[in-house]
Amino acid sequence: MIKKAVIPVAGFGTRFLPASKATPKEMLPIIDKPLVQYAVEEAIDSGINEIIFITSPEKHSIKKHFKTNKDLELRLQNTNKEEMIEKLNPKKFSKTKFYYINQYEQNGLGHAVLQAESVIGNNSFAVLLPDDLFISKKSCLDQLIDIFVEKKSCVIAVNKIDENNIHKYGVIKPGQQNQGSIKIDDIVEKPTAEDAPSDMAVCGRYILNPAIFKHLKLTKSDKSGEIQLTDAIRSLLKEEGIYATIYNGEKFDCGSKEGYVHATISLALRDESINKKIKKIIQDIV
Ligand code: UTP
Repeated sequence: MIKKAVIPVAGFGTRFLPASKATPKEMLPIIDKPLVQYAVEEAIDSGINEIIFITSPEKHSIKKHFKTNKDLELRLQNTNKEEMIEKLNPKKFSKTKFYYINQYEQNGLGHAVLQAESVIGNNSFAVLLPDDLFISKKSCLDQLIDIFVEKKSCVIAVNKIDENNIHKYGVIKPGQQNQGSIKIDDIVEKPTAEDAPSDMAVCGRYILNPAIFKHLKLTKSDKSGEIQLTDAIRSLLKEEGIYATIYNGEKFDCGSKEGYVHATISLALRDESINKKIKKIIQDIV
C-alpha cells in the first residue's frame, strides 16, 4: 500500500534558536526520544519500509541517530545494560531503508518534498512533519491510510483551530463530507482569520500521489520566498479529487515553544518511570 514516507528535516528551526543552532530542531527530545524518532516510528508502524529524509549537510546527527553504533552497544552489553540496546536500535528499524537527500537551500516545505521525487518515483507516499507530534490509539497516518484505501486519492490530516491561530496554517474549504472523509473544495496557505474558508487547518501528515511533483515544479515562491506544499496541493485540486480527515487524537505543535513544553509535560505524566515525581513537582510549583 503506502510503503514510502518523506520526512523533511532541513528547516532552520528559527523558533528554537539558539538550541537549534548546532542541534537540529528535529533532534530535540520529548523526554528521552528525539522528535524525529516519534515520526519514524509512526511511519514504520503504518507499514512504511522506506524513509526519505530531506535534510541539510549541517544535520549529521539525524543520520547518526538512525545508524547502528556498535561501540556503544558493546559497552552496554559489557556493563549489563542490555535493555538499553533495544532502545538504541529498535528492532523495528531493521527492515527500514533510510535515504538522506540534501535540500541545499531552505526554500520551504514544498521545495523540500520535491527533492524526494527520484526516490518516490511513481508511488503514492506519506509526508510526516516531525515537529507535529501526534498521540492517538490509531495513529494519524493510519487514519489517513483508511481514507486513502477507500478513495485512492490524496488525503490530508486536518484539525480544528481557533480563529486567533488560523493564520499560521494551511486551511481547507470543506466540500461534501462522508463517513470521516471530507472532499476538499479549496485550500489556502495562512489566510487571515476573516478570509479563512473554515476552521479546519492542515496538520503535519499527508498522503500524496506522485502527480504532486509536477505541481510542485510549477509552484512559484510566495512573499517569503518559500515554495508552499499547500499551493501545489491547490493546483493539483484542479486535476484530481483530494480529501481531508479530521484527526482523532492529541496533537502537539512541537515547532513552537509552548507546544514543545506541553508535549514534554503531557508525556512525562504518562511515563510510569517518572510520572509520580513529575506530578509532585508540578503540584509544588503550582
Ligand atoms: P517548519 O516551518 O515548522 O520548520 O517546517 P522550520 O522552518 O525549520 O522552523 P521555523 O519556522 O524556522 O522555526 C516543518 C518541517 O519542514 C521542514 C522542517 O525541518 C520541519 O521539520 N522544512 C521546512 C524543510 O525540510 N525545508 C524547508 O525549507 C522548510
